[in-house]
Amino acid sequence: MRGLEALTDAFAARFGRRPEWAARAPGRVNLIGEHTDYNEGLVLPCAIDRDTLALAAPRDDGRVRVWSDEAGEEQGFALAALARRGGWVDYVQAPAWALATLGPALPGLDLAVASDVPAGAGLSSSAALGLAVAHVFTAAAGRALAPRELAEAVHLGENQFVGVGCGILDQFASALGRRDHALRIDCRDRSVEPVPLGAGRVRLLVAHSGVTRALAAGGYAQRVAECRAALAAARAAGIAPPGARALRDLEPAQLPALERALEPTLLRRARHVIRENARVDAFRAAVLEGALGRAGALLREGMASLRDDYEVSVPELDALCALGDAAPGCHGSRLTGAGFGGCTLHLVEPAAADEVARAIRSGFARRFGREPPLWSVRPSDGASALRL
Ligand code: GLA
Repeated sequence: MRGLEALTDAFAARFGRRPEWAARAPGRVNLIGEHTDYNEGLVLPCAIDRDTLALAAPRDDGRVRVWSDEAGEEQGFALAALARRGGWVDYVQAPAWALATLGPALPGLDLAVASDVPAGAGLSSSAALGLAVAHVFTAAAGRALAPRELAEAVHLGENQFVGVGCGILDQFASALGRRDHALRIDCRDRSVEPVPLGAGRVRLLVAHSGVTRALAAGGYAQRVAECRAALAAARAAGIAPPGARALRDLEPAQLPALERALEPTLLRRARHVIRENARVDAFRAAVLEGALGRAGALLREGMASLRDDYEVSVPELDALCALGDAAPGCHGSRLTGAGFGGCTLHLVEPAAADEVARAIRSGFARRFGREPPLWSVRPSDGASALRL
């Protein structure tokens, strides 16, 4: 990605003036609590040290011209005529749409964006783009929104404008991240608690399967629908309490009753969500006690559940996790994000990190004929505006 200076030069060359506002917003990895957010459950992500940068200057004609360094192209749209196009520019239009819905009109902008969050890798490149753009729009409009409000706006845009029925995980992680901490987010009451990750005691490795996925396509929406169906069936069978709004309202102790009442696919989906939700606080407790072996075991359990019960893994993700888990010094591995491709996360002893990375790379290359991109990521602060 181009840094601030290089992107400022690119902005000036394209638009013939200097940018007035800048913002950065990070990608994220989710440590545990996968597919629980849209079930009103718990998640434990951290923002990472890879981010999207947005530079902007106002226009007085209500139009937005936006240059994407990654796409290598410029697109334009009128704020009064926002319409989905099915490409990266939708993630620029979406926050504009949401912010206009929630408050006064926005000014037009010349805009340039660049990112080193890999797209399609399950590291929330779209939330990072949305938050960076939301920051410069609000700065240009003279509106002061709290990070949480920005996250809510970007989430609204992604759901209602882009039409991805995702939960709040990605936007909250990108907006509210804290250096060397994970965030325990309760997706029902939206409370956020930073959890220290023991910097120096643990390293996070992220490996990319090379299988890219689009959330809007198929599998994700199907899982959301299956969770609703499982809840409805649990209610109909009198297992879920009458006021139950989401699978969050069910406990592991109710699984034997669910086994008798739900058809096999819905049972597997519900079992994953209910157990995964319980794993989040178990993992948090293990990390706070410094019991990294126990934390790693919870990651491996979560992975087995995502593979066998939620059925969102692919052979490349299974292989990356197996390679990590077999390497000395790796506490545990799992896929991170929605699955169907994207990345794995490995919780690793710092002294062993290079060796674990080597083992994952070479083992994967032997089997799939290519080396997976692999990064050591550091839990980082959330999105912010920069003064120019
Ligand atoms: C994607 C979605 C999130 C969340 C995860 C799965 O990243 O955007 O809202 O549902 O998948 O945990």
